[in-house]
Amino acid sequence: MIVAAIGTYGPALASHAPAEGPLAVGAQVYSVHCASCHGADLEGQPDWQRSEPDGTLRAPPHDDTGHTWHHPGALLVDYVTLGGAETLRRLGVTGIASGMPAFGGVLSGDEIDAVLDYIASHWSEQMRAYQAEVTRQAEGN
Ligand code: HEC
Repeated sequence: MIVAAIGTYGPALASHAPAEGPLAVGAQVYSVHCASCHGADLEGQPDWQRSEPDGTLRAPPHDDTGHTWHHPGALLVDYVTLGGAETLRRLGVTGIASGMPAFGGVLSGDEIDAVLDYIASHWSEQMRAYQAEVTRQAEGN
């Protein structure tokens, strides 16, 4: 149901996108492909901290109130490219049902980078600094 709604709501949500600038591509990708689940203003699904009755996680916010900024950049790229189930499987995480689809066949690598930059542009200075640090540690620098 939610997936079927993406095409319908995408163009309407595009009005949230800045008209130009380096983040415009990311904003456009976000409004068409991500906003239906993660919210037009990156606010996540209502009551996102509770799972669905079948145990599936709901879509978290991508702003400071969520936890996207907790994760290194490479993990975020994997999450979007491979989807949640495959990323968690590769990490050896079991017992979590992820509703995050894979976009590797839908979006180019540049589009995925652009949408992640768009998301990061909503983080406060502190969250950005934190995320830069976990990314640096994950890369072993
Ligand atoms: C069909 C609904 C749906 C769509 C569309 C969707 N997501 Fe998700 N996403 C989820 C759910 C549900 C989760 C939480 C599950 C999990 O963490 O494994 C999630 C988790 C994530 C995470 C991990 C976040 C974190 O805080 O741990 C990232 C990153 C992400 N999504 C990015 C995106 C991007 C970028 C798009 C658009 C290209 C997108 N999502 C589109 C449902 C969706």
